[in-house]
Amino acid sequence: MVEVVPAILVKSREELLECIARVRESVSVVHIDMMDNEFVPNKTIGLESLAELPNGVSYEFHWMVKNPERWIAKINGNRLHLVHVETINKENWGALKKICARSGCRLGLVLNPETTIEKIMPYIKDVSRVLVMAVHPGFYGQKYIPDVEEKIRALRARFPKLEIEVDGGVNPETAGRACGAGANVLAAASAVYSAKNPLEAIKNISAAGASGAKTVTGE
Ligand code: DX5
Ligand code: ZN
Repeated sequence: MVEVVPAILVKSREELLECIARVRESVSVVHIDMMDNEFVPNKTIGLESLAELPNGVSYEFHWMVKNPERWIAKINGNRLHLVHVETINKENWGALKKICARSGCRLGLVLNPETTIEKIMPYIKDVSRVLVMAVHPGFYGQKYIPDVEEKIRALRARFPKLEIEVDGGVNPETAGRACGAGANVLAAASAVYSAKNPLEAIKNISAAGASGAKTVTGE
């Protein structure tokens, strides 16, 4: 099974609600990009825009911020928080685990295109999901970097049950490659929201991913 998660990179609560509304009936999860203009050279909505999000869909947050624990501490409930391993150390990882034990959230780890999988090894036993960036984080509409497939393959070979998500440059052409390397979750912004019919775009990405997934050998 390949899951497509619409990615939302916006600067206002109005846009956020509109993007959620456009896909809410056809997906179970949406991906919200959070940027602080420090970890990446761009800024999106802040915490104040996240109050009382619509029901009927789950939320995963992609934290492209310095000190993600300071933000995540202010969010309640059963969310999936995807944090960049480049921002993690033993101390804040401990703090994040405590926050999630208290609020019922889940943690996932994110790797930038140049970050090796060795970097996540100290923390991987605590997570069920790893997100591999296929672009340098900060902007939507960038080109998929095929070199990251080597990393996806290595992760899949080492962790057969891990949820492996790919984010950046995902479209019906690249979805098959990413899933062929072992990904089973695909986040996509422009391929969904710039399409005339976002729901059809989601179906196409998912079908392309599923046919790529059939070719996974598990090495
Ligand atoms: C990039 C973000 C991605 C982005 C995806 O920094 O984390 O989630 O919105 O955009 P596309 O699918 O257009 O590459
Ligand atoms: Zn993202």
